Amino acid sequence: MCGIVGYVGLPSQLQEHTALDVLMEGLKRLEYRGYDSAGVAVVANGEVQHRKKAGKLANLSSELEQHPVDKASVGIGHTRWATHGGPTDVNAHPHLADDDQLSLIHNGIIENYATLKQELLADGVTFRSETDTEVAAALLAKIYRTTGNQDLTRSMQLASQRLEGAFTLLAVHADHPGMVVASRRNSPLVVGLGEGENFLGSDVSGFIDFTRDAIELAQDQVVTITPDSVEITDFMGNPAEGKQFTVDWDASAAEKDGYDTFMEKEIHDQPHAVADTLLGRTDAAGQLILDELRIDPEELKSITKIIVLACGTSAYAGMVAKYAIEHWCRIPVEVELSHEFRYRDPIIDPNTLVVSISQSGETMDTLMAVRYAKEQGARTVSICNTNGSTIPRESDAVLYTHAGPEIAVASTKAFLAQITAAYLLGLYLAQLNKKLYSQAIKDILAQLAEIPAKIQTVLDQADQVKELARSMKDTGSVLFLGRNVGYPVALEGALKLKELAYIHAEGFAAGELKHGPIALIDEGQPVFVVVPSPMDRHSLHAKVVSNIQEVRARGAKTIVVAEQGDEDVKQYAETTFYVPETLPMLMPLLTTVPLQIFALELASAKGYDVDQPRNLAKSVTVE
Ligand code: F6R
Repeated sequence: MCGIVGYVGLPSQLQEHTALDVLMEGLKRLEYRGYDSAGVAVVANGEVQHRKKAGKLANLSSELEQHPVDKASVGIGHTRWATHGGPTDVNAHPHLADDDQLSLIHNGIIENYATLKQELLADGVTFRSETDTEVAAALLAKIYRTTGNQDLTRSMQLASQRLEGAFTLLAVHADHPGMVVASRRNSPLVVGLGEGENFLGSDVSGFIDFTRDAIELAQDQVVTITPDSVEITDFMGNPAEGKQFTVDWDASAAEKDGYDTFMEKEIHDQPHAVADTLLGRTDAAGQLILDELRIDPEELKSITKIIVLACGTSAYAGMVAKYAIEHWCRIPVEVELSHEFRYRDPIIDPNTLVVSISQSGETMDTLMAVRYAKEQGARTVSICNTNGSTIPRESDAVLYTHAGPEIAVASTKAFLAQITAAYLLGLYLAQLNKKLYSQAIKDILAQLAEIPAKIQTVLDQADQVKELARSMKDTGSVLFLGRNVGYPVALEGALKLKELAYIHAEGFAAGELKHGPIALIDEGQPVFVVVPSPMDRHSLHAKVVSNIQEVRARGAKTIVVAEQGDEDVKQYAETTFYVPETLPMLMPLLTTVPLQIFALELASAKGYDVDQPRNLAKSVTVE
């Protein structure tokens, strides 16, 4: 939610790139975080020059072509997902204060902005926008001119002490042409380290074209970057340290690689995403080694309950985790949407393991839920795709998914990587607690190792799915049914279609059909059915086949995703997509893929922007 980038370089860097070059490159990569408006400010020739425009980054680029800024080696840039104030030019960031000498950008929500605004209005400050950000800019300016002694870093520390809520703030001032000052609480910010230049970004993609060396900041820190220094303090001004790390992917991983859209590329990345998530997690004897789980194995053995916390697609990965962990480890698992969890009185004790799942590692709802769980004494493990992000940093342990950067707003490869990581966690707990024979674990791991090639097989058959999607471009509603591990897949299929194609879509547990949803079925209603493997030990296959017949008898057009060799099911379906055979528990890694392709193709046929669907943002850093 909102992308932020900051840059400061030596004047000699201007031969290679200006601040504006760096900012625009960073914003291009961060645009997935919000695309309601974009803006930049640079400090040049003793003044702050800014440009901002509602709409996508392309609008800002045109504005800059028509009204260029001077060459500069310091600046800040912002791409917005609107919260306070609509997506207009005037509400776009940066916001100015101190007679337009100070410029500030913000990600998050300042919860006490109304009180602060009253105070500033009483001081005679006038406001141009409806945003909470302009209030922060005015507050910083006031402090700068009074208690802050015109020291921008000190002023930022003092201003941050007065702000409540979630914020990453970046500020530049005409008086300080060689620095950017930033502050963070509950919103993301990382520092990029260069030679004779330094960077700031909401995440590393904001500067990945220039450096892979980064520092993650902790909660409630202020950082001042100059071309050759990075100074970190807490809000009181006490020196603090960040954690340095090297990004394990480069700029090319965040390119489209010849595909038309990032989403298409990321769907095709999935064999790698799963393979890389499995990589290096077994020893020579085939034992699982999850070194990153910095929780003492003895402590893990004492776990009596697991709670999985996540939102959206990640929560569906959590549902798959529940089936797998309960089946393999015999430990009860609850899955809960993070935003619901912390507003009831969940029962947590030191033997509870909370597993959060988050692609971005910044989802505010999940972060707050993890913090709450920690306060209640739970041990916390994060399954996360983003190095340097907040949720893993604040968790006791982390199991990284190695899907690489996911740029398209709708999650695809991160979902499969999350499911893979959840399987690994389940198998690891089963290994520790001796709930599965080591040969059984090896057999499952061997099946998992075959999944990337099997996903590729599904991708190779994409044309059939695409053809169907194009033919259904004018469909108004699609239902998805699944059972057991196919149920979260049905939910994910429906979510992808809603997000991308803006079509009414619902996912149901197939068994629930006759308890209400079957009333929705009438002539021609398309129904996708994710059919369990005929090898499913609960004989769910037959039950789902009955469900297909039930909806078909009422006029539904059935589209079935089934396992290769399941010839029986074909006779009940208008269309059948087959996926290769695997263990019933691992099927979501394959059955999800046709549903992703279907949503992508149908949305593309409707002419929609699949990478940046309306109203959405990649990283939901507000509650
Ligand atoms: C859907 C999607 C979202 C995210 C959700 C959680 O395609 O991407 O539903 O899964 O916002 O995000 P993370 O995983 O970053 O916590």
